[in-house]
Amino acid sequence: MAWLIILLLCAGNSSARYIRDYIHKSSPHLEDRVFSLLVRLQLEEFYDTLLLYGEDCVFHSPSRRLNVSTVLVSSGSSNFDWNFSSLTLILSCSPEDENETNYQTLAKLQRNRRLVYLREVTNPHSVCERYSQKEQYNVATIAEDFDRSRTVYACRHFRDPSIEEVSLLERNPVFIEQFRNMHGKPIRAVADLLSPRSMLYVDAKTGDMKTTGYVANLVNTFAERVNATLELEVLANKLIVKEILSMVENEQLDIGITLESSFRMTFIDISSYPYILTSYCLMVQVPAKLPYNLVYAMIIDPLVLGIIFLLFCLLSVLLVYSQKMSWQDLSLANIVLNDKSLRGLLGQSFPFPLNASKKLRLIFTILCFASIMLTTMYEAYLQSFFTNPPSEPEIRSFQDIGSYNRRIAMPALEINGLIKTNNSHFRGIRVDDLEIFDNMPECYEQRDAFNLSYNYVVTGDRWRSYAEQQTLFKEPVFYYARDLCFSRLIFLSVPLRRHLPYRHLFDEHMMQQHEFGLVNYWMSHSFFDMVRLGLTPLEDLSRPIAYTPSLLMDDISWILKIYLAAMVLCVLCLLLEIGVDMWKRRVKFRNLQILNTF
Ligand SMILES: *[C@@H]1O[C@H](CO)[C@@H](O)[C@H](O)[C@H]1NC(C)=O
Ligand SMILES: *[C@@H]1O[C@H](CO)[C@@H](O)[C@H](O)[C@H]1NC(C)=O
Ligand SMILES: *[C@@H]1O[C@H](CO)[C@@H](O)[C@H](O)[C@H]1NC(C)=O
Ligand SMILES: *[C@@H]1O[C@H](CO)[C@@H](O)[C@H](O)[C@H]1NC(C)=O
Ligand SMILES: *[C@@H]1O[C@H](CO)[C@@H](O)[C@H](O)[C@H]1NC(C)=O
Ligand SMILES: *[C@@H]1O[C@H](CO)[C@@H](O)[C@H](O)[C@H]1NC(C)=O
Repeated sequence: MAWLIILLLCAGNSSARYIRDYIHKSSPHLEDRVFSLLVRLQLEEFYDTLLLYGEDCVFHSPSRRLNVSTVLVSSGSSNFDWNFSSLTLILSCSPEDENETNYQTLAKLQRNRRLVYLREVTNPHSVCERYSQKEQYNVATIAEDFDRSRTVYACRHFRDPSIEEVSLLERNPVFIEQFRNMHGKPIRAVADLLSPRSMLYVDAKTGDMKTTGYVANLVNTFAERVNATLELEVLANKLIVKEILSMVENEQLDIGITLESSFRMTFIDISSYPYILTSYCLMVQVPAKLPYNLVYAMIIDPLVLGIIFLLFCLLSVLLVYSQKMSWQDLSLANIVLNDKSLRGLLGQSFPFPLNASKKLRLIFTILCFASIMLTTMYEAYLQSFFTNPPSEPEIRSFQDIGSYNRRIAMPALEINGLIKTNNSHFRGIRVDDLEIFDNMPECYEQRDAFNLSYNYVVTGDRWRSYAEQQTLFKEPVFYYARDLCFSRLIFLSVPLRRHLPYRHLFDEHMMQQHEFGLVNYWMSHSFFDMVRLGLTPLEDLSRPIAYTPSLLMDDISWILKIYLAAMVLCVLCLLLEIGVDMWKRRVKFRNLQILNTF
């Protein structure tokens, strides 16, 4: 009897537990189905972390069976910055349970796949709507009857109907990349119209406003690729770049057709992956050539003249000694005014003594050799400088920009960026040497016109088209000073709205354009695009001087004048000498007369 009671008790106990379990939990059948769905989703696209919002529900038990780490957020919002893997699947026990308020986590998990369990009879439409308002588009839901219907309701933002019923019996993927085809939805964009990055033109066929240029083309091809329409707004604003950046920051724009440099960048989350890596240097005027009348003075180098004089004295001493093999004739006059040595060095003929000794002949040979070297050297020096006069000195450092009378024209926006990044080269420039333009396009206009009043700052990509343009000029006007750079490597990226859901597609598109060589092609064509659109003239902006005066008699007249002055001085000396001599003679004569009278 006791055994029977014990048996009954046991049975009762276990059945009661079974019944309690059955009531408390969802059916084991449903959990199996959910488990196989999670496995299938992992096969579709791998994930290694589960983020589970909500209290105990149908997802908890299968997630334990799955071999992935799980983060439970029963409160609905995590108060920590999401630092786990980006391969995360988000599960939510009900649409209300995911109430994430942490901004960082929201931004990092915007694109991740979400699976939502609908407990009551909720319309999946409203769930999709609710998520898309938060700009989360990768959402699917399952209902309570999932074990029987085996259907997942996946949100399809751009399709009609916007819910796709994916049956587990078929092979259709639950989550798809929806933004690959945006079905003509608009992308809001504003172009800065700073050529050649983006240039406005009217399409001849349709009459629409369109943009071209190597930044505009990137956005245009992207819109075309994802089957979206580009809603282009044209701002006629002087502070256009600043305006675009603030519009992007305020989420009024999707994509700004402009480039933001790593100097100016405030938030990494409002710009794309770097589009162009380039240098940021000064564009300095090519130093002017020396005028022809200064060339003659240029070749007279005191050091070289000193060496020649020393050589002359040495040869004179040797000549004086070897003529009689004694120091007998050695005097200052014989050394400094040695006519043989002087004539020899100047390449003139001089009397060669009869039956000269071997040593003397040897010294004459040295003299002749020195004379050939000297005269040909100066001849070559002078003639090459006359055909191509030497330039004035170049700017060598940021500190001595001021001493070249050309200030650097810079837009205020770029100056702020350099100050903000504490650029060491920029700190070397004195404020007086800067001409600050609040209006960025105006500064660029001066640069595009090759205005010689200033030097400019330019990025390597923009310099490319200037270099192309200068090949048309008679002489290049500016050169890219590679040793005067604020930075040899800056990143230029396209500003994107913070929560842009297709940011990854844009970055991927950008990198593919680079891979295909299209960006390089667009950049190499930019100057000709500018010419085609009438933004720059196909003419020589270097303002060449039509007539470069060659050397005139006037220019060397100063040499003749000095010569004349020296001659006059000589004549005066001669007259003085004669006068002194005559006076001396007269004094002597008078003395003699006085003597005679006694
Ligand atoms: C879970 O994963 C670990 C490491 O990836 C592996 O060693 C282990 O065998 C896995 N367990 C199951 C049940 O798959
Ligand atoms: C996540 O990383 C950020 C920046 O690296 C750090 O500030 C934050 O404390 C980290 N969060 C956690 C929960 O470790
Ligand atoms: C979501 O969180 C916010 C702030 O934590 C709270 O005010 C709000 O009531 C929550 N919403 C729901 C539906 O729980
Ligand atoms: C692109 O979008 C249009 C609607 O603007 C649609 O008619 C067309 O079918 C789409 N193209 C593709 C390839 O889906
Ligand atoms: C800028 O850098 C210099 C040295 O490189 C440093 O002395 C100075 O404190 C820095 N200034 C700021 C504002 O960081
Ligand atoms: C160059 O700039 C100076 C100073 O801003 C201005 O006076 C001059 O007109 C400009 N020259 C040209 C050709 O634009």
